[in-house]
Amino acid sequence: MNVKPSHLFYQGRERKPVLDQARGVYMWDVDGKRYLDGSSGAMVCNIGHSNENVLDAMRRQMEKSTFGYRLHFETEASEKLAAKTAALCPEGLNRVFFVSGGSEAVESALKLARQYALAIGEGSRWKIISRAPCYHGCTLGALAITSYAPLTDPFLPMMQAMPKIPAPRAYLDGLDADLEATGHHYADMLEAKILEEGPDSVLAFVVEPIGGASTGALVPPRGYMERVQEICRKYGVLFILDEVMTGAGRTGKFLASEHWNLAPDIVVMSKGFAAGYVPLGAMVAHERLVEPVLDAGGFLHGFTYAGNPLACAAGLAVIDEIERMDLVGNAARMGERLQERLRGLMQRYAIIGDVRGKGLLTAFEFMADRGTKAPLPKGLRAFDRFVQIAYDKGLIVYSRRTRDGIEGDHIIVAPPMIVTETHLDEITEMLDVSLAEFTDEIRPALDRAM
Ligand SMILES: Cc1ncc(COP(=O)(O)O)c(C=O)c1O
Repeated sequence: MNVKPSHLFYQGRERKPVLDQARGVYMWDVDGKRYLDGSSGAMVCNIGHSNENVLDAMRRQMEKSTFGYRLHFETEASEKLAAKTAALCPEGLNRVFFVSGGSEAVESALKLARQYALAIGEGSRWKIISRAPCYHGCTLGALAITSYAPLTDPFLPMMQAMPKIPAPRAYLDGLDADLEATGHHYADMLEAKILEEGPDSVLAFVVEPIGGASTGALVPPRGYMERVQEICRKYGVLFILDEVMTGAGRTGKFLASEHWNLAPDIVVMSKGFAAGYVPLGAMVAHERLVEPVLDAGGFLHGFTYAGNPLACAAGLAVIDEIERMDLVGNAARMGERLQERLRGLMQRYAIIGDVRGKGLLTAFEFMADRGTKAPLPKGLRAFDRFVQIAYDKGLIVYSRRTRDGIEGDHIIVAPPMIVTETHLDEITEMLDVSLAEFTDEIRPALDRAM
């Protein structure tokens, strides 16, 4: 491991190559090595790197102003981006609150939900139900509704425990995800949990419509999303969609919720919303929630950098580029082809136990045995090791542990939405050689474990 000292620290001591430049789907380090960004960073750079139209829009805004505090000024950029965002969201979701990232967006949604309950005289409601595993952010509020043991457990004493229901991992439970009965089986766990907790105490259900980091592009079984929405309505529980990863086109619709025509109360976005050009996110709430809160004295929440004009100008230009190049359509088309290629690799590599995803949010999961779904021995740290092998070959992919963060390994392949078939060929080729190397490397350990 390269452990040169640095004043910076993030997760650990490991150092990475220094980034020099990035264009389209490629990135180069200062030694001239080229990488294909097969995960758009952390599913962020959806429109590709260094898009000239976005950079121009940012330069134009920079010439005018880069900061205007939201309590002192309105800005044209934030007004325009809010209007554009509202127009792209389901009917009624037309009040937009800007933030600088996904965790902030989730925190904002939780606090708006609570203030809404107070404003309409339902102060007994405060519990937020979410799923296990799931990822909603790293700040303590968002972490309390996250379920991923290595990230959550150390902080449990500092957080308010929140109820969880199992994520609908039909493939692990041996159920057919194409059957509505399967979707209803998992959705009904929400109803059971609401009844167990006491309906009057439950404020909201927060869900990633297509699972992200913790479940690896988990597509819910047929009927699940419609049913959880119905259950939320039945008990007056707010239905909050965390589209931080899925939003802004990645799954082949602008919002993943469009795959099921959902009508959420709140949607949160970040990542692809500004595609990595600036830190930006949005909480978009139904006017029905916002009006009572404003009538009751206002939303007691806000971040200094919220609605920053430079960030909003970049965000607006990103959405314009998504529309101009029909990147949502391209994500749908290329996503299908990418999944076909991943399924092709699954036929050749026995350690791939599942391939899944929607649009350009795709993943494959390693297993020691496809029949029993047994994960690879956890000591192999396949999620880490495979990513490193691919990285060395010039392909960036993203990985996490599938089974509550403790074992199981999935690799997310989510290139920028500008990918072409030629890029997919390149990704497939690099995955192929990486899988061959990884399989050889772990064979002795697997043989010993048998
Ligand atoms: C679904 C989801 N919600 C929230 C977050 C938190 O976003 P951020 O890392 O920008 O705070 C993430 C980040 O991965 C995410 O995938």
